[in-house]
Parts: sequence; structure tokens; C-alpha cells
Amino acid sequence: MNRRLGVLISGRGSNLQAIIDAVAAGRLQATIAVVIANTADAGGLARARRAGIETVVLEHTAYPSRETYDQALVAELRRCDVGLVCLAGFMRLLSGTFVEAFPNRILNIHPSLLPAFAGLHGQDQAWRHGVKIAGATVHVVTPELDAGPIVLQAAVPVEDVDTADTLAARILVEEHRIYPAAIGIVLDGGWRIDGRRFVRS
Ligand code: GAR
Repeated sequence: MNRRLGVLISGRGSNLQAIIDAVAAGRLQATIAVVIANTADAGGLARARRAGIETVVLEHTAYPSRETYDQALVAELRRCDVGLVCLAGFMRLLSGTFVEAFPNRILNIHPSLLPAFAGLHGQDQAWRHGVKIAGATVHVVTPELDAGPIVLQAAVPVEDVDTADTLAARILVEEHRIYPAAIGIVLDGGWRIDGRRFVRS
């Protein structure tokens, strides 16, 4: 597989940083071809620039529709010859057009044990629900929100003394561990999608 990554962010970019660090340390054989943010004040842009990675800001507010915005995203990713798209705190729904442009070539990190607590603030949803085991999931992106085949998950026990913030912080540590690992698994190939299941053969 083409090992050129396009990383999409909306915020602070700590998962982006984990990917940058894994590449720099030789734990992940990949090149980050471009980092794209949907807002100019995404903190992760500075992390990318510091690492010498090309950055692109595509403000979604400048486009008349989701479809036209997603077409612009696809055009940038193609221009940079991206083989695998990594959503890293990219807080936008993607159209079917975008997903079809990179079939089984888009990953997302989500801060819960999917299919529990999809959508926004997964850690907070889990904490408020009172689960005893929370966690993080890396999955292949399909048109349905947070519902694609699961590549890796990590469990995080919830302690009685946890607040939503302390729990989120421990989940984040696991996110940073499993996201680069999952990207490596997908890039290495030797897997298939069997129904809903991501299966390594
Ligand atoms: C992460 O916790 C990620 O799992 C979550 O946003 C945060 C981004 O942090 N993503 C979602 O909730 C997607 N639905 P980061 O910018 O520091 O990587």
C-alpha cells in the first residue's frame, strides 16, 4: 500500500503528534504527506509545521455544502498522493463521496469502546453512563458515523475517583499508543474486511 498519510485535524493534534513521533522513532514506516485542518486555529497545525510537514487549511465555512467541501479535501489529498487518510480529532461528518474516494483507506480514532458512545465526547458519555470499562477504538471509516470495522481497541478501567477529565486523560494515553499501531497494521496489508470484521490473515 502507498505509505503516504494524510492526517485531518480540527484541534490540538495530540494524536497527530503521536503519529509524528512514531514515524520519527521508526516505529511506523510511513510518510506524513500532508496535515489538513478545517480551521486555521487548530493547535495541531503548529505541531506539523515544527515537524516540517506540509499543512493545508481548508475552512469548511468557505464552502457552500458538505459535498463541495469534501471534494476540495479529496483534491488536496490526491495532490499529495495520499494512500491512507487518518482522521485525528477531525470533527466533521464526511460525505459518502469522500468515503468512496478512499474505500477502506480512511481510519478514525474514537475515545470510547465502539459501538458504545459514538458521536461527540465519547469519554464524557462513558463516564456519565457509569461504565466500569471505557477505552478507545481505531476503526475503518464507512459512511455511517463511528460504525466501521474495528482495527484495534484498548480498554481503560474507570475508577470511582475518576472525573470525566481524569478518565479522558487516561483514554488519551491509550489513543496515542493504538493509533500509530493500527496505522502500521493497515499499511502492512495482509488483512481483509469480512462483514463487519477487520480480520488479519
Ligand atoms: C481525541 O480524543 C479523539 O479520540 C477525539 O477527539 C480528540 C482529539 O484530540 N475524536 C473524536 O471524538 C471523534 N469522534 P487530539 O486533537 O489531541 O488528537
